[in-house]
Amino acid sequence: MVDVVNVRGVSKEFQIHHERHQSLKERLLHPRSGTTELFHALRNIDFSVAQGETVGVVGQNGSGKSTLLKCICGVLKPTSGEIRVRGSLAALLELGAGFQTELSGRDNVYLYGAMLGFSRRMVDAIFDAVVDFSEIEQFIDTQVKFYSSGMYVRLAFAVAVNVDPDILVVDEVLAVGDERFQAKCVERIRRFQQEGRTILLVTHNADQVRALCERAIVLNGGVLIADGPTHESLRTFREHLMGGAVEHERDRLHDSVRIEAVSSASGSFEVRSGGGVTFEVIVNSALAFSGHLVLELFTRAGLLVSRSDAQGSPIDLRPGRNVIVVDLNRVPLLDGVYDLNVGVVDHHGHTVVAWSDAVAAIQVSYGGRESGIVALGATIRQS
Ligand SMILES: Nc1ncnc2c1ncn2[C@@H]1O[C@H](COP(=O)(O)OP(=O)(O)OP(=O)(O)O)[C@@H](O)[C@H]1O
Ligand SMILES: [Mg+2]
Repeated sequence: MVDVVNVRGVSKEFQIHHERHQSLKERLLHPRSGTTELFHALRNIDFSVAQGETVGVVGQNGSGKSTLLKCICGVLKPTSGEIRVRGSLAALLELGAGFQTELSGRDNVYLYGAMLGFSRRMVDAIFDAVVDFSEIEQFIDTQVKFYSSGMYVRLAFAVAVNVDPDILVVDEVLAVGDERFQAKCVERIRRFQQEGRTILLVTHNADQVRALCERAIVLNGGVLIADGPTHESLRTFREHLMGGAVEHERDRLHDSVRIEAVSSASGSFEVRSGGGVTFEVIVNSALAFSGHLVLELFTRAGLLVSRSDAQGSPIDLRPGRNVIVVDLNRVPLLDGVYDLNVGVVDHHGHTVVAWSDAVAAIQVSYGGRESGIVALGATIRQS
């Protein structure tokens, strides 16, 4: 396969200026004081993307994801290293990057087209499709500065997918659209995949990475710490969030513990808000092992509702089949479906020994009028 994106030894440094003197008097006395510090946003990044691949880019806030994408798109110039891109590239960068906010949506579509080398006539030819996809026809002649962030993303995505790019780069923005529009974007991305186009996708939504990417890279403090099959990269990422894997533990335990099933006695995972649900986690182990069981609950939009303490639920696995009973005594959630992930970690809570995503969908029903995710159940009185 041909590499269409090739990133070699790329580092990016930013100069950050710190003001040393705080008071106005001191600032007047020492106008050029303060220190300048070099901040390493990316350190020696190496990876390449083959034609037709969809690669997810994950990492915590500030880990360098957007900086990396901007370097690939040519919006930023790396301090050192080299980036090669073959083919046409369309990008949806962070909100705010790309559009001229004083201009109308219509003018921005033409401007963006021109940036990608499209003539006016070529943009004319796709204009209706762009507006149609964005569903913001009513506002197409409004200045972009009056757009809501959702409208902005709709238009930007509509342009990016209609200019027929070989490579599509998407930074986060999918999360901004409402659920229906997100689904439409995901469907469009899938079509792109079928057409053999290449996609780079930054998202904080692990489900989305799992659903769309066969491969993912993980950035941590500007360093690339994982590059491989999505589930392995996400596991490394999760271990980092929990404090970092202990290498020898991971090697020793590799594939010896497996989560076989999660089942509820009643056969269902339906629960009334404020009520409880009990279920069993069946864990198969090849050896005797002491660790902890970890639970995660996510909304369907990929928001983490809760991750249990990775050192809070000790379990002693025996070789063979182990049944662990979990009681969620009081589920304080509002109406909705929540995906449950279950994992086993070592006794430090650092190394993921076994993990299973979306093992059960917990369905919460709620009859009241509170809205959101959590039932606060406030008691309000007038004193
Ligand atoms: N123009 C800039 N000048 C100085 N520092 C910058 C600049 N752009 C980014 N940085 C810094 O580089 C680091 C990486 O930023 P980046 O936006 O790439 O993170 P990110 O992984 O995209 O985070 P998020 O998940 O919040 O979008 C941050 O610490 C940020 O403050
Ligand atoms: Mg970012």
